[in-house]
Parts: sequence; structure tokens; C-alpha cells
Amino acid sequence: MIAWHDSPVVIGGRTILHRVAFRAKAGELVALVGPNGAGKSTLLRALAGLLPGAPKQDSRRVAWLPQGARCAWGLTVAEVAALGRIPHGDADPAPVERALAACGLLELRDSRIDRLSGGQARRAMLARVLAGEPAVLLLDEPTADLDPAAAHEVMALLRVRARAGACVVVVLHDLGLALQHATRMVVLADGRITADATPGDALPAAAAAFGLPYGLDKRPRLLPPVR
Ligand SMILES: Nc1ncnc2c1ncn2[C@@H]1O[C@H](COP(=O)(O)OP(=O)(O)OP(=O)(O)O)[C@@H](O)[C@H]1O
Ligand SMILES: [Mg+2]
Repeated sequence: MIAWHDSPVVIGGRTILHRVAFRAKAGELVALVGPNGAGKSTLLRALAGLLPGAPKQDSRRVAWLPQGARCAWGLTVAEVAALGRIPHGDADPAPVERALAACGLLELRDSRIDRLSGGQARRAMLARVLAGEPAVLLLDEPTADLDPAAAHEVMALLRVRARAGACVVVVLHDLGLALQHATRMVVLADGRITADATPGDALPAAAAAFGLPYGLDKRPRLLPPVR
């Protein structure tokens, strides 16, 4: 379980999150969606206990993958994944191997991460988080840079983790991925939650937050061509 109470988050005199109350339980795969600047990453950082005044989280229980996380060092993929064991103070190879396998990285295990493609490096950063086998996964756009098949695979493996009892909160911009894989969709717009429902039920609110025209049948209408 992970929760953020509803005190506002004010940074530099600006209210980034209004009175947002958010809670996610074990077994859930929550897609957090909303426009750029809506406050998704801020809410994830709040949940991770990284904002001033937020209760600290135990890094063995709660793992956070920052948006655009990169590793510029010349470590191998296997070494990066093994960093996920640091909170536990061990070098247990079994969870590292499981994470590498889940992320489809076994063949790349000895490759240097700074020489991988963007999508391969992204998966290695996710493997590091998975290797800690945390009860709560807070993932900020883990499917950015991934090709459609790899993005679906990542969502499917997160679903498996959730079914096994993990609590997963994932920031996404791909509503299709959210619809197909998430158990719940939370829409954030201008620092407020505007919908919190099944992905299908929350879709119109998500579309509205993006200013996309959706028909009553909940199907997206084609936007007119840009001239
Ligand atoms: N440390 C900070 N100092 C000042 N402003 C900040 C800080 N962190 C976030 N903000 C502001 O808070 C707002 C929300 O930022 P946040 O990163 O949470 O958005 P987001 O929903 O994750 O957007 P994106 O989809 O672009 O990643 C933005 O307007 C941003 O400029
Ligand atoms: Mg963000």
C-alpha cells in the first residue's frame, strides 16, 4: 500500500499539487496519466517520500524509477541490475537474474549500458528497480523510448508483478497501454485528480484533460489535419 495525504504541494510559491488524496493497494496496476506539467512526477516523488516534509519510505519496500533515468557510467547491464540489491545490502544473484530475464536482457547482460540503444538502456534501468523486488513500484514513464512490442512486454510484466501482490503505479502517456494493462486509471490535470476509475471509465476524462475530442462511444475522433 502507498498513499499521499491531501496536503497541497507548493514549490516556489506555486501550487503544483492541490489537495490530492491518492492511495494504491497491493495487486493494483495504476496508470497515472495527464498532460505535461500536470504534476504526475511530483505526485510520484511525493509517494516515494522524496518531497520535503513527506514521510521517508523504506527503499527495500518502495522503489522509484525517475522520469528519463539514465546511467552514464560504463557499467554492464548485469552490474546495473545488481545495483537494485543495494537497499538490501546483499548481492543475491537470483532476483537480479529474474529481473534481467523479465526485461529481456539476458543476451545483453555483458554489454555496457552507455553503448546500448535508448530502449535497451531504459529496460536496464527498469531491471535495476525490479531486482530489489520491492512491494511498491513507482515508475515514471518506464515505456518512453520503447518500441510498441517492448512497451507491451513491460506492461505485461508489471501486471504479473501486481498479480503476485506488488503495488504498481506507473506514469504513462500512452492511453492504449493504460487501457489494455492497467487495473485502474487516475487522471491528473493542473495538479488535481479529475478521474479515478477503471481505465475504460476514466478514458473520457483523460481525453478531456488532453483536449482530445472523444465521441459518446468513447472512440477517438480523427483530428483534422494541421494546415
Ligand atoms: N523542483 C521544482 N521547482 C519548480 N517547479 C517545479 C519543480 N518540480 C516540478 N515543478 C513544476 O510543477 C509542475 C508539474 O511538474 P511535474 O514534473 O510533476 O509534471 P508531469 O505531470 O510529470 O509532466 P510531464 O508529463 O512533462 O513529465 C510543472 O509546472 C513544473 O514546472
Ligand atoms: Mg513527469
